[in-house]
Amino acid sequence: MQTMIEITSPLFLRPEELESPIDWRRAFGNDNPLALEIGCGIGDFIAKTASDKPGVNFIAIDYYNKGCDKTCRRLEKLGLTNVRVLRVEAREFIATHIPRGSLSAVYINCPDPWPKKRHRKRRLVSSGFLEFLSPYLASGADFHFATDFEDYGLDVAEFMPAIAGFTNLLKPDLYRHELEGYHRSKYMLKFMAEGKQIHFVHYRKL
Ligand SMILES: C[S@@+](CC[C@H](N)C(=O)[O-])C[C@H]1O[C@@H](n2cnc3c(N)ncnc32)[C@H](O)[C@@H]1O
Repeated sequence: MQTMIEITSPLFLRPEELESPIDWRRAFGNDNPLALEIGCGIGDFIAKTASDKPGVNFIAIDYYNKGCDKTCRRLEKLGLTNVRVLRVEAREFIATHIPRGSLSAVYINCPDPWPKKRHRKRRLVSSGFLEFLSPYLASGADFHFATDFEDYGLDVAEFMPAIAGFTNLLKPDLYRHELEGYHRSKYMLKFMAEGKQIHFVHYRKL
């Protein structure tokens, strides 16, 4: 059970108070490109990435209430104004609130691995998910996936080449264990400290 914290940050948006799809230009007050992080956790990755890219509007989502609260606090402390945080489920949120062709980047870091074989269909990222996500990406949009869980990394690396309309930016590799310029999230750092390798996958929508 999640202990529900009331989040009062001006960076926190409640989807029920917003139109469908959301007018992101109005939400951010500018026309900058829009990027999405799914499963932002405590917001360390988005804080670093959004600081690097002040000309991009970031949406950070997670259905973990305490994580959203921590993310908002972190962003406010840094004075970042180019991120909005929502406590939502990814698929439902995208389908309802993201205009088609509008995302310039999607980041998914260390999604829940569901290690048991019988639970694997619960994984967020699958070929079906990529086919669902693809129409929401603008041409030239980046798709970033990173996992500490080898089996998940290999699965994504292997199905991605068959997804129509994307090109692999790590060619000839299907994945790498290092990705220069890409910030490390809390979970990445935790697993790296345990000696695990991260699998990075990076594609671009054509
Ligand atoms: C293992 S944590 C990783 C957090 C962070 N990305 C990191 O690397 O440190 C996975 C996060 O994804 C969130 N999550 C999982 N499935 C989700 C979904 N369908 N929609 C939104 N958030 C989701 C969980 O609540 C959790 O905070």
